[in-house]
Amino acid sequence: VDFDQGDHDHFMVKEIHEQPEAVRRCLRGRLDERFHTAHLGGLELDAREMRAIRRVKILGCGSAYYAGQLGAQLIEEVARIPADAEPASEFRYRNPVIDPETLYVAVSQSGETYDTLAAVQEIKRKGGRVIGLVNVVGSTIARECCGGIYLHAGPEVAVASTKALTNMSVGFALLGIHLGRIRDLSPANGQRLLDGLAALPAQIEEVFESRPKIADAAGWLATASSLFFVGRVRGFPVAREGAQKLKEVSYLHAEAYQTSELKHGPLALISPELPTVAIVPDDELLDRNLTALHEIGARSGPLMVITHQGVDVGELATSVIEVPRNEPELDPILLTIPLQLLAYEVSVQLGRDIDKPRNLAKSVTVE
Ligand code: G6P
Repeated sequence: VDFDQGDHDHFMVKEIHEQPEAVRRCLRGRLDERFHTAHLGGLELDAREMRAIRRVKILGCGSAYYAGQLGAQLIEEVARIPADAEPASEFRYRNPVIDPETLYVAVSQSGETYDTLAAVQEIKRKGGRVIGLVNVVGSTIARECCGGIYLHAGPEVAVASTKALTNMSVGFALLGIHLGRIRDLSPANGQRLLDGLAALPAQIEEVFESRPKIADAAGWLATASSLFFVGRVRGFPVAREGAQKLKEVSYLHAEAYQTSELKHGPLALISPELPTVAIVPDDELLDRNLTALHEIGARSGPLMVITHQGVDVGELATSVIEVPRNEPELDPILLTIPLQLLAYEVSVQLGRDIDKPRNLAKSVTVE
């Protein structure tokens, strides 16, 4: 186990840079080119049982919950099974109805988060079926679940999760393809997504080339006392995770909003003092997102835009970061990477204790 920072100033940035390799490890042996599906050997459920699943419910805490939200959207889109995510910490206390036709998925880097474990036990006690998406092999949650998908991100030291989180998203993509291919996802679409996953490591490397531009953006964003992160549909879990990461390591206040909801309230706050980081993928919602950017610009709200190569945001944004295009369903995975670097660079500017932010623990193993 390598607990050495190597050439990096902090574990957080080291782990950010380990992501291409971490994703490769997560994909190894799982891309089934013959049947255009994902091979998931740890699932302990046969095709008939997988086919009988009518809903997917994902449970996790903190960033794992946001990854779960990204995963739920991906699974619903790819496999056409209704899916949602909920914080395990809420689920376990609300006496949830456990449905025998739902596949419950517990997602956790450490595999030791007490709230997530308690949710798993509640599901099992009521006769539900729960699998794990876990990084640490042999951890308590991994052992309590009926099989699952190991993330193989390698040991993560920084409190702010980066590579484990990316691998959670990759794990959900594999699960979505697997569930889809025993339903109506075509071989061609299955293969399209496998190719998209295989392209991720090199594309993540490409995102790292934007680090100087992200550091520039961090320079002006670090002077704000509060920021908005906005995205819609596929971009919304990205915005939530971006805001969370910034809060955790920089201690700046950040709030994530659906871009579509801006006009229903938060637009009142837009002013030169409140910067917005907008997630604007080149997808079917691009025009609507650009309209929202104009609304922010018209109120002199400073803007940083995370988008795809070739999208023209004109003069609206002070900083524009472009990431490579993947498949639309997988784009959120790449759009998250600049936000990790942004949280890191802002925190460097502010001189924060990046690997051990105040008041936080890497895993919360008590009630
Ligand atoms: C803690 C950490 C978070 C993490 C969450 C879930 O609250 O501070 O960064 O996302 O636990 O951890 P897990 O190990 O279950 O993914």
